[in-house]
Amino acid sequence: MSNDQNDAIKSILEENRVFNPPREAAERLGGAWIDSMESYQEMWRRSVDEPERFWETEAKEHLHWFKPFEQVLSWNPPDARWFEGGLTNACHTCVDRQVEEGHGDEVAIIWEGEPVSDGAPEIRRLTYADLQRETARVANALESLGVGRGDIVTIYMGMVPEVAIAMLACARIGAAHSVIFGGFSASAIVDRVRDADSRVILTCDGSWRRGSIVPLKASVDEACQELPGVTSVVTLRRCLNDIEMVDGRDHDWHELVSRQSDDRPCEPMDSEALLFLLYTSGSTGKPKGIVHTTAGYCLHASVTARNTFNLRPDRGQVYWCTADVGWITGHSYIVYGVLPNRVPTVMYEGAPNFPAEDRFWSMVERHRVTQFYTAPTAIRAFMKWGDEHPAGHDLSSLMVLGTVGEPINPEAWMWYHRVIGGERCPIVDTWWQTETGGHMITPQPCATPTVPGSCTLPTLGIDAAVVDDDGNELPHGTGGLLVIRKPWPSMLRGIHGDRDRFIETYWSRIPGMYTAGDAASRDDRGYFWILGRIDDVINVSGHRLGTAEVESALVSHVHVVEAAVVGFPHDIKGTGIAAFVTLGPRAEASDGLKKTLHTHVGKEIGAIAKPDMIRFTHALPKTRSGKIMRRLLRDIAAGRESTQDTTTLEDLTVLAKLREEDE
Ligand code: PRX
Repeated sequence: MSNDQNDAIKSILEENRVFNPPREAAERLGGAWIDSMESYQEMWRRSVDEPERFWETEAKEHLHWFKPFEQVLSWNPPDARWFEGGLTNACHTCVDRQVEEGHGDEVAIIWEGEPVSDGAPEIRRLTYADLQRETARVANALESLGVGRGDIVTIYMGMVPEVAIAMLACARIGAAHSVIFGGFSASAIVDRVRDADSRVILTCDGSWRRGSIVPLKASVDEACQELPGVTSVVTLRRCLNDIEMVDGRDHDWHELVSRQSDDRPCEPMDSEALLFLLYTSGSTGKPKGIVHTTAGYCLHASVTARNTFNLRPDRGQVYWCTADVGWITGHSYIVYGVLPNRVPTVMYEGAPNFPAEDRFWSMVERHRVTQFYTAPTAIRAFMKWGDEHPAGHDLSSLMVLGTVGEPINPEAWMWYHRVIGGERCPIVDTWWQTETGGHMITPQPCATPTVPGSCTLPTLGIDAAVVDDDGNELPHGTGGLLVIRKPWPSMLRGIHGDRDRFIETYWSRIPGMYTAGDAASRDDRGYFWILGRIDDVINVSGHRLGTAEVESALVSHVHVVEAAVVGFPHDIKGTGIAAFVTLGPRAEASDGLKKTLHTHVGKEIGAIAKPDMIRFTHALPKTRSGKIMRRLLRDIAAGRESTQDTTTLEDLTVLAKLREEDE
């Protein structure tokens, strides 16, 4: 455990505020799926004692099967195969089933664009029947471009309903998708498209953000200069900005899609068919394509969406997750987990502080949002912007509040509870990862007493534990590794094209157990507290970044010889990015060069990776064996006295100099 983590454990054990689920919560929600702590405990116990029986029942109830599965699980660690022999389709479960069951006219997606003029925001409401028609058309369009089962289509679009349609259209024909967050740069697109070997890219001309246009198509064009394998680019017109169209390669979305038939049944797919790749950061420079397959992923996403937010159709609920579809939160809790539950899912384009800092609260009021799911970094920003923004709106429709992406500090939790939730909404602090596909540890809104800062207890079917390096469970109050001991349906099936890395990253530390890469501790109640990452991954504004990725972006600049990147505590972002950089002989340390490097990182990865602090140094502190002593740099970046052992440091003057430079 690091010093930070030991300090964290101490303050956790001192936290004694407990909030019981408000008595009227279940009533307001039209009934609770899990209505008391006793029933949660009983259900959870049964689910982990007899996991196959539990998942079998869930799979029969929640998924649509063209052909029933024959076997619930075959587990050959680390390889799991769920629901083998079964045929299903993710788009059918989300869309067609609703239409077939007579709900075609109900609203599936409520979309609000960024207000681009002074007038009212543009709002679109799409029904399940609309989604069926549009996904069929896009599916036919993809097939006309030669896309078939097993192909991987790259999607690099803004937050428009068509991004969800594109994902579901791929699923409809048994193709997989790889969505790239619209904030990533052209060179990030190159890496991901190459790794996935995509021939088709779906994009937009641009996307609105704080009154400016993010030129998505231009980034795709730039990326395609290095991607000779890309044969088709389909561009949806959103902003009507100038774009170039390449003859023979480029298609206008509207023109291509509108001429297609709206009849294209869902392809029956094997349970284990690839549904999508989603790239995420690890401790080396190269992002990894996390593999998720059809039945297991859809099942856990929809069951957890239902339980964690208490989604219930026909009760006037409106659910809003503020994430971007380019992250796993958007995949699971805007699209795949929500649509099967037949509660409208809100999508928005833009930013929380444009045109004004009350954008979210005006949306909650306008759409009468009942469940609201956001990240701690956003909550901290709202706190800073002032209580008057939420106070100016009617937030009485809210019933359940959620957070995700990073540990939530108790101050932010309390503010969320008081100012947004009016002290009547349970808060679900959901711990999970790109790799887990769905929620793993979270309160159940009408059952679990909550404690600010704790994600509380595992979801049904999940056997989470805090263990030592040998896999032995640790006593409560002790920090250790967070592991999942039993397989679960939405677990990652691999890292695309890198079996060794898959085994090494998640399965080699403690054989047979999934190591999440987080440190955690449990309190006297058995509640889980996440202490942070144990690897060189940092969580910046709830976005996961590998420090090695930022380092390789920095050293790709001609003037940089070496770079070390660490995280440091940041009021709003949770973790800020600090870069220690040594320069080549011809470079001069200057503010101008700092700006250049800042922009350079933005160009190599995307704006989210731009360092908050760049420090030039003549050398980096290293051990005698040449390893950079990151812990020392973390202390310096945080501006605190170091208690680290420096006996292995090769050159003590480096440290003294770095501290001097600090002053
Ligand atoms: O460190 C944990 C943190 O985010 C990591 C996963 O990041 P990513 O794959 O990008 O997925 C984010 C959205 C699920 C975890 O290893 N994390 C996520 N949720 C929480 C969290 N840390 C503390 N509390 C959470 N609720």
